[in-house]
Amino acid sequence: MSGMKTCVVLMSVLAVGWALTEKELQDSNYLKCNLESKVSEGEPILPNTEWIDIKDECVNLARKQIRMEFEAALAYLQLGSYFSQYDINRPGFAKFFLGAASEERSHAIKIFDYLLMRGQLTAYHSDPQLHTLIMGTSVNKSSELTKLSVALKKKEVNGGLEALNLALGFEVAVTRSIKKMIKACENDEVLSEKEKVLLSDNDGSIASNDYHMVDWLITDLLDEQLKGQRELAGRIATLYKMKDGYGQIADFLYDKKLLEELNSKAA
Ligand SMILES: [Fe+2]
Repeated sequence: MSGMKTCVVLMSVLAVGWALTEKELQDSNYLKCNLESKVSEGEPILPNTEWIDIKDECVNLARKQIRMEFEAALAYLQLGSYFSQYDINRPGFAKFFLGAASEERSHAIKIFDYLLMRGQLTAYHSDPQLHTLIMGTSVNKSSELTKLSVALKKKEVNGGLEALNLALGFEVAVTRSIKKMIKACENDEVLSEKEKVLLSDNDGSIASNDYHMVDWLITDLLDEQLKGQRELAGRIATLYKMKDGYGQIADFLYDKKLLEELNSKAA
């Protein structure tokens, strides 16, 4: 509050501007907007951390989930660029997978934002740095991404149907990972002694179910995930039936349909 008052004083004086010379303004320390804390040594300068009550296992799985979402984004980026090549030239599939890559990135950032909102990834934690999110052990084996890269380089992805099936495989893995996280966030099987103390009420009962995070995971992430899987499964079924009737030209026709659909959605 005192910082605000000095700011108000400064602004008032600057607005009037007639009472003090430039030299006098420089010399007047009390007119500076100074937001530095005046805290004696040893005193805490930040709020206490009791409100940060999210469980370690839950946080660790969320951090892994961020990496997994980025991995899915990379996979879709690869598929999008594959279909964009002049000698493949399937603009509908390219647009679909590049859009999917953006979605996966946004999922990663959503989880990142959630953890920050809950007081995670800060200087309070022993391992707060963003790079550990990227350098940590992968959930989705990176060898899968490597295999995909090699297959795309050799142009071994056999058209849109195989690409959609690969995408559905990624999504199934992501869904399983989200469910695992939900389970961890709602039970108390793996609480450390420190967490038991943190999450215990006066009567000794442990309130370990992180209702907010579980609700957010289900209504936001999992809901979108399940709808995404359904969309992919529907597209696979349609293209499969088209291939049955039209053979090789089915991929070309479906690509045109996909591009029209995505363009009309964007308009
Ligand atoms: Fe995702």
